[in-house]
This record gives sequence, C-alpha cells and structure tokens, in this order.
Amino acid sequence: MSQFRLHHTAPGYRLIAKDPALSDVQVDFSNVSMQRRQRSIRSERIVKAVQAAPGRRIVDCTAGLGTDSFLVASAGAHVESIERSHPLYLLLQSALAQDETSVAERIQLHRGDAVAFLTSMTSVPDGVLIDPMYPPPVRSSSRKAKAKGALQVLHAFVGPDDGDQIQTLFHAALGTGCRRIVVKRPRWAPTFTDKKPLFVNDGRSNRLEVYSA
Ligand SMILES: C[S@@+](CC[C@H](N)C(=O)[O-])C[C@H]1O[C@@H](n2cnc3c(N)ncnc32)[C@H](O)[C@@H]1O
Repeated sequence: MSQFRLHHTAPGYRLIAKDPALSDVQVDFSNVSMQRRQRSIRSERIVKAVQAAPGRRIVDCTAGLGTDSFLVASAGAHVESIERSHPLYLLLQSALAQDETSVAERIQLHRGDAVAFLTSMTSVPDGVLIDPMYPPPVRSSSRKAKAKGALQVLHAFVGPDDGDQIQTLFHAALGTGCRRIVVKRPRWAPTFTDKKPLFVNDGRSNRLEVYSA
C-alpha cells in the first residue's frame, strides 16, 4: 500500500502513485485496447483456454484489475471474480459499476479469499482461472525486466504470492470437479504440479496451463 494512495473521485476509485516512476491507476473497460480485443473475442487465449461461452459459469480466483474476468464475460460467460486486496476490489468494483454494457452485469465481484470461495461452492462451475502473482525473474534487477503499466502496479502494490499459494488454489479448484482449470504462468516459471495438463498454450510473455479436475 505504501507506494500508492487510494483516492475516491466522482467517477470512482483511483490509485495515486506516490513514486513519480509509477503511474496512477484507474480501471476503465471502455478503453480502446479492450474494445479491439472484444472485436475478436473468440481468438483471445484466455477465452479459448477456459472455453468461455454463453451459459457457462467461470470462477476467476485472482481478479486483480479485472482484465481476464472482463474478457471471459465478453465471450458471454458468467464470471464470479474473487479479489482479496481491498483497494483492488474497490477499483474493480467502481469500474464495473461505471460500465454500461451487459458484460459488467455478467461479472459478480466478491471480496475475499478464493480458496474459501471455491471450497464453499455448492454447484460445479464450468471453469476456474488462476493467475497468481509471481516473484520477478532472476534478471529482475535489469531495467528491461521491470514490470510496466498495470502489471507494475500489481507488483508494487500486491507483491508476489508465497510459493504455496498456487498449490492451495489449484487443489481447491480440483475439488470443485470443474471441467477446466486454467493456470496462467510466466514463461520462465517452473512446473508446480505433477498433474499432466490437457494442453499448454504458449504466449509471448506467459503460458496458460489447462487442466481438468
Ligand atoms: C496477477 S494478478 C491477476 C490479474 C488478473 N488476471 C487481471 O486480468 O487483471 C493476481 C491477483 O490475485 C489476487 N489473489 C491472489 N491470491 C488470491 C486468493 N487466494 N484469493 C483472492 N485473490 C487472490 C491478488 O491480490 C492479485 O490482485
């Protein structure tokens, strides 16, 4: 929290950077980049990996700034998004409240721990997304490795998860009996489970490991 100050203005919450090297952050799903991605939503890797489609119910365990949840909901799925950081929850909540499209209506945001959410579910979701924070790669001291934009905020603000987080979330997701569990990993990250993935989708900066429960 020390590098940002949460500020409430008329349109909603905003994180004000105290460090001039960081940018202020506000979540706004009406931006040009999101509109462009929505035009070819079926080719979005996260949408294909979790098989997002109308009528499907997906749990996003790591809502963060909401991009993945919004993409999955743009493909017609209903999304339960869980975020444990209160400031990030408030940022996302105000962005969803301001969004006037039907996409935001398909996202139900919860504040809390996704493990508790998954273990208390009484019905089986179609898919579960897990995108935890990672420690920076070994070359992180170089300027090149510095996280940029929204990711920069998440790194500065939330910090990395401890190594056990992904295991705990993954086992809770397995326990739901859902068809697909998608775990987003940096390309450099080592394998975290002995379970064989159904497939792996490699992107430029990350890979999506897809498992069945
Ligand atoms: C890498 S970010 C996710 C980014 C997100 N996929 C997006 O599109 O913006 C990880 C987020 O997950 C949250 N998180 C990590 N473990 C969690 C848990 N067990 N329950 C709820 N939120 C969690 C962190 O607070 C952080 O905001």
